Amino acid sequence: MAAPSVDLCDESRGLSAQAYDSIRELLHSVSGIKLGSGKQELVKSRVGRRLRALGVASFDEYVARLGHDREELGRMVDVLTTNKTFFFREPAHFDFIVDHGLPAWRRAGKRLRAWSAGCSTGEEPYSLCMVLAEKLGDFEAWDARILATDISPRVLDTARAGAYPKATLEGVSPAQRARFFEATDQGARVRPELRARVQFAQLNLLGHWPMRGPFDVIFCRNVMIYFDEPTRVRLVSRFRELLAPGGWLLIGHSESLGASPTGFRSVKPSTYARVD
Ligand SMILES: C[S@@+](CC[C@H](N)C(=O)[O-])C[C@H]1O[C@@H](n2cnc3c(N)ncnc32)[C@H](O)[C@@H]1O
Repeated sequence: MAAPSVDLCDESRGLSAQAYDSIRELLHSVSGIKLGSGKQELVKSRVGRRLRALGVASFDEYVARLGHDREELGRMVDVLTTNKTFFFREPAHFDFIVDHGLPAWRRAGKRLRAWSAGCSTGEEPYSLCMVLAEKLGDFEAWDARILATDISPRVLDTARAGAYPKATLEGVSPAQRARFFEATDQGARVRPELRARVQFAQLNLLGHWPMRGPFDVIFCRNVMIYFDEPTRVRLVSRFRELLAPGGWLLIGHSESLGASPTGFRSVKPSTYARVD
């Protein structure tokens, strides 16, 4: 008779306070993400999956492994990221693009460089792309490029595939669905023409940025909310360096750069323009 299988990693064995603190510190030092206190259940459930995948018996052993396994450290960061997003999230920004961005970029010679920093599964850059294709009329004639980056390879796989289940397509109008998506068994997939307009790449916002810019607009929405203040300040100053003069930085509506952020003018809530 076959021996009953033993779950080597029974999560009820628990997460020691020391292992929890080490995981929080590692996550913060690699990604800037500040995991609040009281997130033990989240760590147990998400990181616990990594323990099971590796056959590691305890969180303490797992933490010891993180000390010499950079690849696994990346995977741990990946599972601890929060990736919530949806099409046309915070629609005021897309209205702003239509009312202010498009006229400015048209005057500048039909050229646009946009960056979705922390793009998650791709709904944000594809929403921007749909707006451009709908409102420009002559999108084909534009030199428009959208760079979309995230630290998590897992979400980038979904973003590149551009296939979404029905339930996530709520914000997409029937006309947009017909024009920009092809139906699949589970939902719909972004058409190749639109996918080709977005370049996805893995990038840690805390690390080296290989791109030179300048960008006309940077979306960094609902990302810095997970960072501490010094990290946010550093990041905003790096965004400024990569923005064209007058270029816009769009952040989440529950985020703020404060009343008078250095080098930026507040245009409206969560919308900032670079000033020199
Ligand atoms: C909540 S989602 C926001 C998605 C989209 N911008 C939106 O507003 O709907 C935050 C994303 O930021 C990414 N992220 C967190 N820390 C990061 C870092 N250090 N570098 C790059 N991306 C990061 C996460 O992986 C996650 O996909």
